[in-house]
Amino acid sequence: KTAVVTGASRGIGEAIAHVLSRDGAHVICLDVPQQQADLDRVAGEIGGSTLAIDITAADAGEKIKAAAAAQGGLDIIVHNAGITRDKTLANMKPELWDLVININLSAIERVNDYLLEHEGFNANGRIVCVSSISGIAGNLGQTNYAASKAGVIGLVKFTAPILKNGVTINAVAPGFIETQMTAAIPFAIREAGRRMNSMSQGGLPVDVAETIALFASSASTGLNGNVVRVCGQSLLGA
Ligand SMILES: NC(=O)c1ccc[n+]([C@@H]2O[C@H](COP(=O)([O-])OP(=O)(O)OC[C@H]3O[C@@H](n4cnc5c(N)ncnc54)[C@H](O)[C@@H]3O)[C@@H](O)[C@H]2O)c1
Repeated sequence: KTAVVTGASRGIGEAIAHVLSRDGAHVICLDVPQQQADLDRVAGEIGGSTLAIDITAADAGEKIKAAAAAQGGLDIIVHNAGITRDKTLANMKPELWDLVININLSAIERVNDYLLEHEGFNANGRIVCVSSISGIAGNLGQTNYAASKAGVIGLVKFTAPILKNGVTINAVAPGFIETQMTAAIPFAIREAGRRMNSMSQGGLPVDVAETIALFASSASTGLNGNVVRVCGQSLLGA
């Protein structure tokens, strides 16, 4: 199988690339050109290849299709790339709102549209999106992020019934996972996020990656339009 993983140079994306490669996929590791060195490292570790592009570029879908075609066509795409730009709503600048919505939601919609309109998937293709429990519950200071991640869930629900040829779409909604993204959260909020679950600790990127691998598996034919929380029973949105 050929898999494309966006945001694969670090964090959850890096773990997804490793797990899908372990399961036998050739993984095309996609990230922004500034992350080329880490992208090369991850792809080197798993015998994958790299695609250094911004997923918001107008031709991102075309480039993804071409890169996968060189490996026998696209079987799995994991829309993992995402950013936060946290501000309370009163302090939220329109450009920060737009940036987060564009990367976390609109880029996924555009890439999916391109691939689905241009026969971009092999039969029984798998689309797996990364939402967040913030997209289920909302979160103070994250209205842009929460709206984008709620949008991802809406996109999955909308897309699932219109897919053909055995293609499926599902999403995971991680809770607090230990990555550079959560390392940037102020100390007190970070500790609260880390402990507000039945494990009283943050999750690891591999926890999310293993659930994504389930959705990506060819055995998951009957799973379509689902959203699974990977959050250690976090109280947020419970
Ligand atoms: N860490 C958590 O607790 C957590 C919780 C819920 C959801 N998530 C989601 O999981 C995903 C991965 O998060 P992470 O914690 O590994 O974050 P991270 O910041 O460590 O990694 C995100 C990666 O996405 C890449 N990226 C950002 N914008 C891009 C673009 N326009 N084009 C291509 N690549 C781009 C970045 O370069 C980076 O390598 C994100 O969608 C995030 O919202 C994370």
